[in-house]
Amino acid sequence: MLGSLWSFALAAAALSASVLFEGARRPLRGVTPPPNIPSLSAHDCSTCHDAIYKQWLASRHAQSFTNRIFVASFRREPLSWCVYCHAPLPEQAKALAGARHIRVRALPLVDEGVNCAVCHIRNGAILSARAPSAAALRAHRMRVVPSLATSDFCGGCHQFNVPRPGLPVRYTAEPMQDTLAEWRRTTRNKECQDCHMAGGGHAFPGGHDVALLRNTLRVHITPKNDRLQIELEANGAGHRVPTGDPFRRLQLQLLSEEQAATPLGTYSFGRRFRNPPHGDKDTWVLAQDLSIPPPTQGTTAVRSFTAKAMGAKYWRLLFSYPAPSSRADLQGDDIAVEVLRGAVPQPIREAPTPTALPPGRPAPSRP
Ligand code: HEC
Ligand code: HEC
Ligand code: HEC
Ligand code: HEC
Ligand code: HEC
Repeated sequence: MLGSLWSFALAAAALSASVLFEGARRPLRGVTPPPNIPSLSAHDCSTCHDAIYKQWLASRHAQSFTNRIFVASFRREPLSWCVYCHAPLPEQAKALAGARHIRVRALPLVDEGVNCAVCHIRNGAILSARAPSAAALRAHRMRVVPSLATSDFCGGCHQFNVPRPGLPVRYTAEPMQDTLAEWRRTTRNKECQDCHMAGGGHAFPGGHDVALLRNTLRVHITPKNDRLQIELEANGAGHRVPTGDPFRRLQLQLLSEEQAATPLGTYSFGRRFRNPPHGDKDTWVLAQDLSIPPPTQGTTAVRSFTAKAMGAKYWRLLFSYPAPSSRADLQGDDIAVEVLRGAVPQPIREAPTPTALPPGRPAPSRP
Protein backbone atom coordinates (compact mmCIF):
# COMPACT_ATOMS: atom_id res chain seq x y z
CA MET A 1 0.00 0.00 0.00
CA LEU A 2 2.69 2.46 1.08
CA GLY A 3 4.83 1.44 -1.88
CA SER A 4 2.18 2.29 -4.48
CA LEU A 5 1.44 5.64 -2.90
CA TRP A 6 5.13 6.46 -2.97
CA SER A 7 5.61 5.78 -6.65
CA PHE A 8 2.55 7.93 -7.28
CA ALA A 9 4.16 10.69 -5.19
CA LEU A 10 7.48 10.51 -7.06
CA ALA A 11 5.88 10.54 -10.49
CA ALA A 12 4.05 13.72 -9.56
CA ALA A 13 7.07 15.50 -8.11
CA ALA A 14 7.51 17.60 -11.22
CA LEU A 15 4.15 19.44 -10.82
CA SER A 16 5.14 23.10 -10.99
CA ALA A 17 3.48 26.29 -9.81
CA SER A 18 2.56 27.31 -13.36
CA VAL A 19 0.73 24.01 -13.89
CA LEU A 20 -1.09 24.49 -10.58
CA PHE A 21 -2.39 27.99 -11.36
CA GLU A 22 -2.19 28.80 -15.12
CA GLY A 23 -2.22 32.55 -14.60
CA ALA A 24 -5.95 33.00 -13.83
CA ARG A 25 -6.98 32.26 -17.42
CA ARG A 26 -9.81 30.02 -16.24
CA PRO A 27 -11.00 28.30 -13.05
CA LEU A 28 -8.51 25.76 -11.69
CA ARG A 29 -8.60 22.31 -13.22
CA GLY A 30 -8.43 18.84 -11.66
CA VAL A 31 -9.48 19.89 -8.17
CA THR A 32 -11.17 16.71 -6.95
CA PRO A 33 -10.86 15.70 -3.29
CA PRO A 34 -9.31 12.42 -2.08
CA PRO A 35 -11.93 9.62 -1.94
CA ASN A 36 -12.38 9.82 1.85
CA ILE A 37 -12.88 13.60 1.94
CA PRO A 38 -16.46 14.55 1.08
CA SER A 39 -16.03 18.01 -0.45
CA LEU A 40 -13.67 20.87 -1.27
CA SER A 41 -14.84 22.92 1.72
CA ALA A 42 -12.32 23.92 4.38
CA HIS A 43 -14.75 22.42 6.92
CA ASP A 44 -13.72 18.97 5.69
CA CYS A 45 -10.11 19.72 6.67
CA SER A 46 -10.97 21.48 9.95
CA THR A 47 -12.15 18.21 11.51
CA CYS A 48 -8.49 17.14 11.80
CA HIS A 49 -6.53 20.40 11.22
CA ASP A 50 -8.41 22.70 13.56
CA ALA A 51 -5.50 24.99 14.52
CA ILE A 52 -4.51 25.62 10.88
CA TYR A 53 -8.17 26.04 9.93
CA LYS A 54 -8.60 28.80 12.54
CA GLN A 55 -5.47 30.64 11.38
CA TRP A 56 -6.61 30.44 7.78
CA LEU A 57 -10.14 31.60 8.71
CA ALA A 58 -8.69 34.86 10.06
CA SER A 59 -6.46 35.35 6.97
CA ARG A 60 -7.13 37.51 3.93
CA HIS A 61 -7.09 34.32 1.84
CA ALA A 62 -10.27 33.19 3.65
CA GLN A 63 -11.81 36.62 3.05
CA SER A 64 -10.63 37.11 -0.50
CA PHE A 65 -14.18 37.01 -1.90
CA THR A 66 -16.05 38.56 1.03
CA ASN A 67 -13.92 41.40 2.40
CA ARG A 68 -15.49 44.82 1.94
CA ILE A 69 -12.59 46.25 -0.08
CA PHE A 70 -12.83 43.46 -2.64
CA VAL A 71 -16.64 43.56 -2.72
CA ALA A 72 -16.65 47.34 -3.36
CA SER A 73 -14.21 46.90 -6.23
CA PHE A 74 -15.82 43.75 -7.71
CA ARG A 75 -19.23 45.44 -7.74
CA ARG A 76 -17.83 48.01 -10.16
CA GLU A 77 -15.96 45.48 -12.24
CA PRO A 78 -17.56 42.02 -11.91
CA LEU A 79 -15.25 40.16 -14.29
CA SER A 80 -14.87 36.37 -14.41
CA TRP A 81 -11.15 37.09 -14.39
CA CYS A 82 -11.33 38.38 -10.79
CA VAL A 83 -13.00 35.16 -9.68
CA TYR A 84 -10.20 33.03 -11.20
CA CYS A 85 -7.93 34.29 -8.37
CA HIS A 86 -10.24 35.38 -5.56
CA ALA A 87 -12.38 32.18 -5.63
CA PRO A 88 -10.62 29.97 -8.20
CA LEU A 89 -12.20 26.53 -7.69
CA PRO A 90 -14.33 25.28 -10.61
CA GLU A 91 -17.27 24.73 -8.20
CA GLN A 92 -16.94 28.32 -7.04
CA ALA A 93 -17.03 29.63 -10.60
CA LYS A 94 -20.06 27.46 -11.38
CA ALA A 95 -22.01 28.66 -8.32
CA LEU A 96 -21.22 32.27 -9.19
CA ALA A 97 -22.25 31.89 -12.82
CA GLY A 98 -25.61 30.67 -11.45
CA ALA A 99 -25.81 33.81 -9.29
CA ARG A 100 -25.01 35.91 -12.36
CA HIS A 101 -21.70 36.83 -10.76
CA ILE A 102 -22.78 39.33 -8.14
CA ARG A 103 -23.05 37.63 -4.80
CA VAL A 104 -26.61 38.44 -3.75
CA ARG A 105 -26.83 35.74 -1.08
CA ALA A 106 -24.26 33.71 0.83
CA LEU A 107 -22.71 31.04 -1.39
CA PRO A 108 -20.89 28.94 1.21
CA LEU A 109 -18.08 27.47 -0.92
CA VAL A 110 -17.59 30.66 -2.95
CA ASP A 111 -17.33 32.65 0.26
CA GLU A 112 -14.36 30.52 1.36
CA GLY A 113 -12.33 32.31 -1.32
CA VAL A 114 -8.77 30.96 -1.48
CA ASN A 115 -9.38 27.88 0.69
CA CYS A 116 -7.32 24.77 1.55
CA ALA A 117 -8.34 22.97 -1.65
CA VAL A 118 -7.06 25.83 -3.85
CA CYS A 119 -3.51 25.28 -2.60
CA HIS A 120 -3.57 21.65 -1.42
CA ILE A 121 -5.88 19.52 -3.61
CA ARG A 122 -5.31 18.27 -7.16
CA ASN A 123 -6.49 15.05 -8.83
CA GLY A 124 -7.74 13.25 -5.75
CA ALA A 125 -4.66 13.88 -3.59
CA ILE A 126 -3.45 16.31 -0.93
CA LEU A 127 -0.36 18.23 -2.06
CA SER A 128 2.44 18.70 0.44
CA ALA A 129 5.90 20.21 0.11
CA ARG A 130 7.60 17.42 1.98
CA ALA A 131 7.57 13.65 2.25
CA PRO A 132 4.42 12.80 4.21
CA SER A 133 4.47 11.09 7.58
CA ALA A 134 2.89 7.65 7.94
CA ALA A 135 0.04 9.34 9.83
CA ALA A 136 -0.57 11.69 6.89
CA LEU A 137 -0.67 8.79 4.44
CA ARG A 138 -3.16 6.97 6.63
CA ALA A 139 -5.36 10.08 6.75
CA HIS A 140 -5.51 10.89 3.04
CA ARG A 141 -3.86 10.25 -0.30
CA MET A 142 -0.79 12.55 -0.63
CA ARG A 143 1.31 13.96 -3.44
CA VAL A 144 4.73 15.50 -2.85
CA VAL A 145 5.04 18.82 -4.68
CA PRO A 146 8.29 20.46 -3.56
CA SER A 147 7.40 23.72 -5.36
CA LEU A 148 4.68 24.33 -2.73
CA ALA A 149 7.46 25.60 -0.43
CA THR A 150 8.83 28.07 -3.01
CA SER A 151 8.08 31.69 -3.86
CA ASP A 152 7.14 30.59 -7.40
CA PHE A 153 4.10 28.82 -5.94
CA CYS A 154 2.79 32.06 -4.39
CA GLY A 155 3.64 33.87 -7.62
CA GLY A 156 0.94 31.73 -9.27
CA CYS A 157 -1.49 34.44 -8.06
CA HIS A 158 0.79 37.18 -6.69
CA GLN A 159 2.45 37.95 -10.05
CA PHE A 160 0.41 38.94 -13.12
CA ASN A 161 0.11 41.53 -15.85
CA VAL A 162 -2.61 44.02 -16.75
CA PRO A 163 -5.29 42.10 -18.70
CA ARG A 164 -6.80 43.11 -22.03
CA PRO A 165 -10.58 43.57 -21.97
CA GLY A 166 -12.80 40.58 -22.70
CA LEU A 167 -12.56 36.80 -22.66
CA PRO A 168 -10.54 34.64 -23.13
CA VAL A 169 -8.14 36.25 -20.65
CA ARG A 170 -5.10 37.75 -22.41
CA TYR A 171 -2.41 39.88 -20.81
CA THR A 172 -0.45 42.99 -21.82
CA ALA A 173 3.28 43.22 -21.07
CA GLU A 174 2.70 45.53 -18.06
CA PRO A 175 2.96 44.00 -14.56
CA MET A 176 -0.12 44.75 -12.41
CA GLN A 177 1.00 42.88 -9.32
CA ASP A 178 4.75 42.38 -9.43
CA THR A 179 5.53 40.82 -6.04
CA LEU A 180 7.44 37.74 -7.28
CA ALA A 181 9.59 39.81 -9.66
CA GLU A 182 10.29 42.31 -6.87
CA TRP A 183 11.28 39.45 -4.58
CA ARG A 184 13.66 38.13 -7.27
CA ARG A 185 15.63 41.40 -6.96
CA THR A 186 16.29 40.82 -3.23
CA THR A 187 18.98 38.56 -1.74
CA ARG A 188 16.34 35.78 -1.70
CA ASN A 189 17.58 34.53 1.66
CA LYS A 190 13.96 33.83 2.49
CA GLU A 191 11.04 32.51 0.46
CA CYS A 192 7.58 34.10 0.77
CA GLN A 193 6.66 31.20 3.09
CA ASP A 194 9.51 31.98 5.53
CA CYS A 195 8.03 35.42 6.22
CA HIS A 196 4.31 34.88 5.63
CA MET A 197 3.97 31.30 6.91
CA ALA A 198 6.63 31.29 9.64
CA GLY A 199 6.46 27.99 11.55
CA GLY A 200 3.90 26.62 9.06
CA GLY A 201 1.39 29.32 10.12
CA HIS A 202 -1.63 29.94 7.88
CA ALA A 203 -2.60 33.47 9.02
CA PHE A 204 -0.69 35.04 6.08
CA PRO A 205 -0.03 38.42 7.79
CA GLY A 206 0.40 41.27 5.30
CA GLY A 207 -0.75 44.81 4.62
CA HIS A 208 -3.80 44.52 6.89
CA ASP A 209 -1.68 43.54 9.90
CA VAL A 210 -0.92 46.84 11.63
CA ALA A 211 1.54 45.24 14.07
CA LEU A 212 3.54 43.86 11.13
CA LEU A 213 3.49 47.27 9.39
CA ARG A 214 4.58 48.94 12.63
CA ASN A 215 7.49 46.53 12.95
CA THR A 216 8.54 47.02 9.35
CA LEU A 217 8.29 50.78 8.76
CA ARG A 218 10.32 53.70 10.14
CA VAL A 219 10.21 57.44 9.42
CA HIS A 220 13.35 59.61 9.77
CA ILE A 221 12.99 63.40 9.51
CA THR A 222 15.85 65.92 9.43
CA PRO A 223 15.01 69.64 9.29
CA LYS A 224 17.03 71.70 6.79
CA ASN A 225 16.16 75.41 6.71
CA ASP A 226 12.53 75.58 5.59
CA ARG A 227 12.53 72.01 4.30
CA LEU A 228 12.36 68.54 5.77
CA GLN A 229 14.54 65.72 4.53
CA ILE A 230 12.36 62.61 4.98
CA GLU A 231 13.30 58.95 4.75
CA LEU A 232 10.70 56.18 4.69
CA GLU A 233 12.43 52.96 5.66
CA ALA A 234 11.19 49.38 5.35
CA ASN A 235 13.10 46.74 7.27
CA GLY A 236 12.22 43.08 6.72
CA ALA A 237 10.00 43.14 3.63
CA GLY A 238 10.85 40.83 0.71
CA HIS A 239 9.58 43.15 -2.04
CA ARG A 240 8.45 46.76 -2.56
CA VAL A 241 6.33 48.42 0.13
CA PRO A 242 3.55 48.62 -0.74
CA THR A 243 3.56 45.63 -3.06
CA GLY A 244 0.57 43.75 -4.47
CA ASP A 245 -2.67 45.54 -5.27
CA PRO A 246 -2.01 48.67 -7.41
CA PHE A 247 -4.08 50.98 -5.19
CA ARG A 248 -2.15 50.46 -1.97
CA ARG A 249 -0.47 53.64 -0.69
CA LEU A 250 1.81 54.75 2.11
CA GLN A 251 0.78 58.29 3.09
CA LEU A 252 2.92 60.62 5.16
CA GLN A 253 0.96 63.52 6.64
CA LEU A 254 2.49 66.66 8.17
CA LEU A 255 0.41 68.19 10.96
CA SER A 256 0.30 71.57 12.72
CA GLU A 257 -0.91 70.00 15.97
CA GLU A 258 -0.84 66.48 17.30
CA GLN A 259 -4.58 65.91 16.79
CA ALA A 260 -5.04 68.18 13.75
CA ALA A 261 -7.95 66.93 11.62
CA THR A 262 -6.64 68.42 8.37
CA PRO A 263 -3.00 67.81 7.48
CA LEU A 264 -0.76 70.64 6.25
CA GLY A 265 0.39 68.32 3.50
CA THR A 266 0.05 64.65 2.43
CA TYR A 267 2.77 62.79 0.52
CA SER A 268 1.64 59.57 -1.13
CA PHE A 269 3.82 56.58 -2.09
CA GLY A 270 2.90 53.66 -4.31
CA ARG A 271 2.52 52.81 -7.97
CA ARG A 272 0.36 54.90 -10.30
CA PHE A 273 -0.96 53.72 -13.64
CA ARG A 274 -2.45 55.54 -16.63
CA ASN A 275 -3.93 54.63 -20.00
CA PRO A 276 -1.26 54.29 -22.68
CA PRO A 277 -0.96 57.46 -24.84
CA HIS A 278 -1.36 55.42 -28.04
CA GLY A 279 -3.19 52.14 -28.22
CA ASP A 280 -5.67 50.36 -26.05
CA LYS A 281 -7.55 52.82 -23.84
CA ASP A 282 -8.86 49.94 -21.71
CA THR A 283 -5.42 48.92 -20.49
CA TRP A 284 -2.89 50.48 -18.14
CA VAL A 285 0.81 51.26 -18.15
CA LEU A 286 2.92 52.26 -15.16
CA ALA A 287 3.15 56.05 -14.90
CA GLN A 288 5.12 56.46 -11.68
CA ASP A 289 6.52 54.24 -8.95
CA LEU A 290 7.14 55.90 -5.59
CA SER A 291 6.96 52.77 -3.44
CA ILE A 292 9.88 51.84 -1.17
CA PRO A 293 12.06 49.64 -3.43
CA PRO A 294 12.81 45.99 -2.65
CA PRO A 295 15.89 45.54 -0.42
CA THR A 296 18.60 44.52 -2.90
CA GLN A 297 21.23 44.12 -0.15
CA GLY A 298 20.57 43.24 3.48
CA THR A 299 17.06 43.70 4.81
CA THR A 300 16.52 47.47 4.62
CA ALA A 301 15.38 49.77 1.83
CA VAL A 302 14.61 53.48 1.84
CA ARG A 303 12.59 56.04 -0.15
CA SER A 304 13.88 59.60 0.42
CA PHE A 305 12.20 62.90 -0.42
CA THR A 306 12.10 66.49 0.72
CA ALA A 307 8.99 68.33 1.84
CA LYS A 308 8.22 71.95 2.67
CA ALA A 309 8.33 72.28 6.45
CA MET A 310 5.26 74.59 6.58
CA GLY A 311 5.71 74.88 10.35
CA ALA A 312 4.79 71.20 10.81
CA LYS A 313 5.17 69.96 14.37
CA TYR A 314 3.88 66.40 14.00
CA TRP A 315 3.65 63.70 11.35
CA ARG A 316 1.72 60.49 10.86
CA LEU A 317 2.14 57.57 8.51
CA LEU A 318 -0.98 55.89 7.07
CA PHE A 319 -1.36 52.75 4.97
CA SER A 320 -4.35 53.02 2.63
CA TYR A 321 -6.08 50.28 0.65
CA PRO A 322 -8.89 51.01 -1.82
CA ALA A 323 -9.13 52.46 -5.31
CA PRO A 324 -10.46 56.05 -5.24
CA SER A 325 -13.67 54.83 -6.94
CA SER A 326 -14.36 52.39 -4.06
CA ARG A 327 -13.89 54.88 -1.24
CA ALA A 328 -17.52 56.01 -1.14
CA ASP A 329 -18.57 52.44 -0.17
CA LEU A 330 -16.01 52.08 2.61
CA GLN A 331 -15.08 53.59 5.94
CA GLY A 332 -12.57 53.45 8.79
CA ASP A 333 -9.89 50.76 8.64
CA ASP A 334 -11.06 49.63 5.19
CA ILE A 335 -9.85 52.98 3.82
CA ALA A 336 -6.66 53.46 5.82
CA VAL A 337 -4.94 52.59 9.09
CA GLU A 338 -2.51 54.71 11.09
CA VAL A 339 0.83 52.93 11.31
CA LEU A 340 3.10 55.40 13.12
CA ARG A 341 3.13 58.97 14.37
CA GLY A 342 5.71 61.30 15.92
CA ALA A 343 6.97 64.84 16.43
CA VAL A 344 8.82 66.68 13.67
CA PRO A 345 12.29 67.57 15.03
CA GLN A 346 12.62 71.38 15.03
CA PRO A 347 15.71 73.07 13.57
CA ILE A 348 18.33 73.82 16.25
CA ARG A 349 18.57 77.57 16.64
CA GLU A 350 22.00 79.05 17.54
CA ALA A 351 21.80 80.13 21.21
CA PRO A 352 22.62 83.87 21.49
CA THR A 353 26.20 84.20 22.81
CA PRO A 354 26.43 86.40 25.95
CA THR A 355 28.62 89.42 25.24
CA ALA A 356 29.10 90.64 28.81
CA LEU A 357 28.22 89.37 32.24
CA PRO A 358 25.67 91.40 34.15
CA PRO A 359 27.44 93.51 36.77
CA GLY A 360 27.65 92.30 40.35
CA ARG A 361 27.35 88.61 39.54
CA PRO A 362 30.18 86.15 39.95
CA ALA A 363 31.37 84.46 36.77
CA PRO A 364 29.74 81.05 36.45
CA SER A 365 32.18 78.32 37.34
CA ARG A 366 32.37 75.36 35.07
CA PRO A 367 33.17 71.95 36.42
C1 HEC B 1 -9.28 12.38 9.12
C2 HEC B 1 -8.39 13.44 9.53
C3 HEC B 1 -7.84 14.34 8.42
C4 HEC B 1 -8.55 15.07 7.49
C5 HEC B 1 -10.06 15.12 7.25
C6 HEC B 1 -7.57 15.84 6.78
N1 HEC B 1 -6.32 15.57 7.24
FE1 HEC B 1 -4.57 16.33 6.59
N2 HEC B 1 -3.52 15.20 7.88
C7 HEC B 1 -4.08 14.38 8.83
C8 HEC B 1 -3.02 13.79 9.64
C9 HEC B 1 -3.23 12.85 10.81
C10 HEC B 1 -1.82 14.28 9.12
C11 HEC B 1 -0.41 13.98 9.61
C12 HEC B 1 -0.04 14.97 10.65
C13 HEC B 1 1.36 14.81 11.11
O1 HEC B 1 2.13 14.12 10.46
O2 HEC B 1 1.67 15.46 12.10
C14 HEC B 1 -2.15 15.16 8.02
C15 HEC B 1 -1.23 15.83 7.27
C16 HEC B 1 -1.56 16.78 6.30
C17 HEC B 1 -0.62 17.56 5.54
C18 HEC B 1 0.89 17.55 5.71
C19 HEC B 1 1.53 16.29 5.29
C20 HEC B 1 2.85 16.14 6.02
O3 HEC B 1 2.99 15.16 6.73
O4 HEC B 1 3.69 16.99 5.89
C21 HEC B 1 -1.32 18.37 4.72
C22 HEC B 1 -0.76 19.39 3.74
C23 HEC B 1 -2.70 18.10 4.96
N3 HEC B 1 -2.82 17.12 5.91
C24 HEC B 1 -3.73 18.77 4.33
C25 HEC B 1 -5.07 18.48 4.50
C26 HEC B 1 -6.14 19.16 3.80
C27 HEC B 1 -5.95 20.31 2.83
C28 HEC B 1 -7.31 18.58 4.20
C29 HEC B 1 -8.71 18.91 3.71
C30 HEC B 1 -8.91 18.78 2.27
C31 HEC B 1 -6.96 17.55 5.14
N4 HEC B 1 -5.61 17.51 5.31
C32 HEC B 1 -7.89 16.73 5.77
C33 HEC B 1 -5.41 14.16 9.03
C34 HEC B 1 -6.44 14.66 8.26
C1 HEC C 1 -4.11 36.80 -11.00
C2 HEC C 1 -4.78 36.89 -9.72
C3 HEC C 1 -5.75 38.03 -9.45
C4 HEC C 1 -6.75 38.50 -10.25
C5 HEC C 1 -7.14 37.99 -11.61
C6 HEC C 1 -7.40 39.54 -9.50
N1 HEC C 1 -6.80 39.69 -8.28
FE1 HEC C 1 -7.34 41.01 -6.83
N2 HEC C 1 -5.76 40.41 -5.72
C7 HEC C 1 -4.91 39.38 -6.04
C8 HEC C 1 -3.91 39.26 -5.00
C9 HEC C 1 -2.78 38.25 -5.00
C10 HEC C 1 -4.19 40.26 -4.05
C11 HEC C 1 -3.43 40.53 -2.75
C12 HEC C 1 -2.45 41.68 -2.94
C13 HEC C 1 -2.41 42.62 -1.80
O1 HEC C 1 -2.91 42.29 -0.73
O2 HEC C 1 -1.89 43.73 -2.01
C14 HEC C 1 -5.36 40.96 -4.53
C15 HEC C 1 -5.96 42.03 -3.87
C16 HEC C 1 -7.09 42.69 -4.31
C17 HEC C 1 -7.71 43.78 -3.61
C18 HEC C 1 -7.24 44.39 -2.32
C19 HEC C 1 -8.00 43.79 -1.19
C20 HEC C 1 -7.52 44.23 0.14
O3 HEC C 1 -7.67 43.43 1.06
O4 HEC C 1 -7.01 45.32 0.31
C21 HEC C 1 -8.82 44.15 -4.35
C22 HEC C 1 -9.80 45.25 -4.01
C23 HEC C 1 -8.86 43.28 -5.50
N3 HEC C 1 -7.79 42.40 -5.45
C24 HEC C 1 -9.86 43.32 -6.47
C25 HEC C 1 -9.81 42.59 -7.64
C26 HEC C 1 -10.77 42.75 -8.72
C27 HEC C 1 -12.00 43.64 -8.69
C28 HEC C 1 -10.36 41.94 -9.73
C29 HEC C 1 -10.93 41.82 -11.11
C30 HEC C 1 -11.13 43.07 -11.81
C31 HEC C 1 -9.15 41.23 -9.25
N4 HEC C 1 -8.87 41.66 -7.99
C32 HEC C 1 -8.47 40.29 -9.99
C33 HEC C 1 -4.95 38.59 -7.15
C34 HEC C 1 -5.79 38.78 -8.21
C1 HEC D 1 -2.45 30.08 -0.16
C2 HEC D 1 -2.11 28.67 -0.14
C3 HEC D 1 -2.51 27.84 1.06
C4 HEC D 1 -3.75 27.75 1.65
C5 HEC D 1 -5.00 28.54 1.32
C6 HEC D 1 -3.63 26.74 2.66
N1 HEC D 1 -2.36 26.24 2.70
FE1 HEC D 1 -1.65 24.77 3.90
N2 HEC D 1 0.23 25.07 3.21
C7 HEC D 1 0.55 25.91 2.16
C8 HEC D 1 1.97 25.85 1.93
C9 HEC D 1 2.73 26.65 0.87
C10 HEC D 1 2.49 24.94 2.87
C11 HEC D 1 3.93 24.49 3.03
C12 HEC D 1 4.69 25.48 3.86
C13 HEC D 1 6.16 25.16 3.85
O1 HEC D 1 6.52 24.00 3.77
O2 HEC D 1 6.94 26.13 3.93
C14 HEC D 1 1.36 24.45 3.66
C15 HEC D 1 1.44 23.53 4.69
C16 HEC D 1 0.35 22.90 5.27
C17 HEC D 1 0.41 21.80 6.20
C18 HEC D 1 1.67 21.17 6.72
C19 HEC D 1 1.92 21.83 8.06
C20 HEC D 1 3.31 22.12 8.40
O3 HEC D 1 3.55 22.37 9.60
O4 HEC D 1 4.18 22.17 7.51
C21 HEC D 1 -0.87 21.47 6.53
C22 HEC D 1 -1.33 20.38 7.47
C23 HEC D 1 -1.74 22.38 5.80
N3 HEC D 1 -0.96 23.23 5.07
C24 HEC D 1 -3.12 22.38 5.86
C25 HEC D 1 -3.93 23.39 5.36
C26 HEC D 1 -5.34 23.53 5.64
C27 HEC D 1 -6.14 22.56 6.49
C28 HEC D 1 -5.77 24.64 5.00
C29 HEC D 1 -7.15 25.28 5.01
C30 HEC D 1 -7.72 25.53 6.33
C31 HEC D 1 -4.63 25.19 4.28
N4 HEC D 1 -3.54 24.41 4.54
C32 HEC D 1 -4.68 26.32 3.46
C33 HEC D 1 -0.32 26.70 1.43
C34 HEC D 1 -1.64 26.91 1.73
C1 HEC E 1 -5.05 31.11 -5.68
C2 HEC E 1 -4.37 32.37 -5.65
C3 HEC E 1 -3.40 32.64 -4.51
C4 HEC E 1 -2.29 31.90 -4.14
C5 HEC E 1 -1.79 30.60 -4.73
C6 HEC E 1 -1.67 32.62 -3.06
N1 HEC E 1 -2.38 33.75 -2.80
FE1 HEC E 1 -1.99 35.12 -1.35
N2 HEC E 1 -3.68 36.15 -1.83
C7 HEC E 1 -4.52 35.85 -2.88
C8 HEC E 1 -5.59 36.82 -2.93
C9 HEC E 1 -6.71 36.86 -3.96
C10 HEC E 1 -5.37 37.71 -1.85
C11 HEC E 1 -6.17 38.97 -1.51
C12 HEC E 1 -7.19 38.76 -0.50
C13 HEC E 1 -7.94 40.06 -0.28
O1 HEC E 1 -8.87 40.34 -1.06
O2 HEC E 1 -7.57 40.79 0.63
C14 HEC E 1 -4.17 37.23 -1.17
C15 HEC E 1 -3.64 37.82 -0.04
C16 HEC E 1 -2.42 37.47 0.53
C17 HEC E 1 -1.81 38.14 1.65
C18 HEC E 1 -2.42 39.24 2.47
C19 HEC E 1 -2.09 40.57 1.91
C20 HEC E 1 -2.57 41.68 2.78
O3 HEC E 1 -2.49 42.78 2.32
O4 HEC E 1 -2.98 41.48 3.92
C21 HEC E 1 -0.59 37.55 1.86
C22 HEC E 1 0.45 37.94 2.90
C23 HEC E 1 -0.46 36.49 0.90
N3 HEC E 1 -1.59 36.46 0.11
C24 HEC E 1 0.63 35.66 0.80
C25 HEC E 1 0.68 34.51 0.02
C26 HEC E 1 1.73 33.54 0.06
C27 HEC E 1 2.96 33.62 0.95
C28 HEC E 1 1.41 32.57 -0.83
C29 HEC E 1 2.18 31.32 -1.15
C30 HEC E 1 2.36 30.38 -0.05
C31 HEC E 1 0.15 32.93 -1.44
N4 HEC E 1 -0.27 34.12 -0.89
C32 HEC E 1 -0.52 32.21 -2.42
C33 HEC E 1 -4.38 34.82 -3.77
C34 HEC E 1 -3.43 33.81 -3.67
C1 HEC F 1 11.79 38.93 4.19
C2 HEC F 1 10.39 38.75 4.50
C3 HEC F 1 9.39 38.75 3.36
C4 HEC F 1 9.44 38.01 2.20
C5 HEC F 1 10.54 37.08 1.70
C6 HEC F 1 8.20 38.28 1.51
N1 HEC F 1 7.44 39.17 2.21
FE1 HEC F 1 5.59 39.86 1.73
N2 HEC F 1 5.63 41.16 3.27
C7 HEC F 1 6.63 41.23 4.22
C8 HEC F 1 6.33 42.31 5.13
C9 HEC F 1 7.17 42.74 6.31
C10 HEC F 1 5.12 42.91 4.68
C11 HEC F 1 4.41 44.11 5.31
C12 HEC F 1 4.80 45.38 4.61
C13 HEC F 1 3.91 45.62 3.44
O1 HEC F 1 2.69 45.63 3.62
O2 HEC F 1 4.42 45.77 2.31
C14 HEC F 1 4.70 42.15 3.52
C15 HEC F 1 3.55 42.41 2.78
C16 HEC F 1 3.07 41.56 1.77
C17 HEC F 1 1.79 41.71 1.10
C18 HEC F 1 0.77 42.77 1.38
C19 HEC F 1 0.85 43.83 0.28
C20 HEC F 1 1.29 45.14 0.76
O3 HEC F 1 2.39 45.64 0.46
O4 HEC F 1 0.55 45.69 1.54
C21 HEC F 1 1.70 40.71 0.17
C22 HEC F 1 0.55 40.45 -0.79
C23 HEC F 1 2.93 39.94 0.25
N3 HEC F 1 3.73 40.48 1.22
C24 HEC F 1 3.20 38.84 -0.53
C25 HEC F 1 4.47 38.24 -0.61
C26 HEC F 1 4.84 37.26 -1.60
C27 HEC F 1 3.93 36.69 -2.65
C28 HEC F 1 6.16 36.97 -1.38
C29 HEC F 1 7.08 36.09 -2.20
C30 HEC F 1 7.16 36.36 -3.62
C31 HEC F 1 6.60 37.74 -0.24
N4 HEC F 1 5.54 38.50 0.19
C32 HEC F 1 7.87 37.70 0.30
C33 HEC F 1 7.71 40.40 4.32
C34 HEC F 1 8.13 39.50 3.34
